[in-house]
Amino acid sequence: MSHSAALPNHLAVIMDGNGRWAKQRQRPRTLGHRAGARAVRTIVEYCLKRGIPALTLFAFSSENWNRPEDEVGALMRLFLRVLESEVEELTRQQVHLRFIGDRSRFPEGIRARMGAAEAIRLPSPKLTLTLAAGYGGRADLAQAARRLAERVQAGTLRPDQIDEATLGEAMSLADLPPPDLFIRTGGEHRISNFLLWQLAYTELWFTDVLWPDLDDALLDTAIADFAGRERRFGLISEQLPTPALEAR
Ligand code: IPE
Ligand code: IPE
Ligand code: MG
Repeated sequence: MSHSAALPNHLAVIMDGNGRWAKQRQRPRTLGHRAGARAVRTIVEYCLKRGIPALTLFAFSSENWNRPEDEVGALMRLFLRVLESEVEELTRQQVHLRFIGDRSRFPEGIRARMGAAEAIRLPSPKLTLTLAAGYGGRADLAQAARRLAERVQAGTLRPDQIDEATLGEAMSLADLPPPDLFIRTGGEHRISNFLLWQLAYTELWFTDVLWPDLDDALLDTAIADFAGRERRFGLISEQLPTPALEAR
């Protein structure tokens, strides 16, 4: 396997289609979420195998709180179970797990386990796995604005110092390069309030495949598509650096 320069450094994924996967089988939506949790294992293993160092997964949006109470309850029980059963193995695999989003509405048992997982220090993690839980892109922008306003009020920042750099530093994931590749399964062509700021120049890739049906071949297809794209960032082709000769 040639280690192409066109491998994404940061992959961001909307894991969508669990409910429809279950419906296809005339099973409750909850069963789809359980199958979805297994697909998380698949993509984590894939990133470790391919050497993709950062993976951000949209697990639960700020809007998902408005789903029927029994579905939200089932999702909470599933989160708790996954946290209980997976953190040890992730740590063994040198995966650093962390969370973005407003966790204040999550049950205390989940919040405690989120905090405990994040506190595990790995000297050189192979993968930074960020779960977006209770996350909304607009709320992320609002909290960044609030943070900067507080600094202005405290006298440590002047309004004229508020620019893309200072705002960007106050956003979630500021310590990572922005996502290179965005994948959404489940057939919908939208962002659904995921990373609004961070996706500004991310390559977008959509598939009808439902999240629980994710496999390595599908991820290979997405990565190959990404590798063939020209990222111009507003420039014209002639201005871009000549790609290095492919390793043979
Ligand atoms: C994504 O699958 C998982 C969450 C939002 C928690 P869905 O539950 O949205 O599945 P569909 O879109 O209804 O099929
Ligand atoms: C986006 O999926 C959120 C997650 C996958 C966690 P949704 O299923 O909630 O998005 P919409 O409602 O189709 O836009
Ligand atoms: Mg959905």
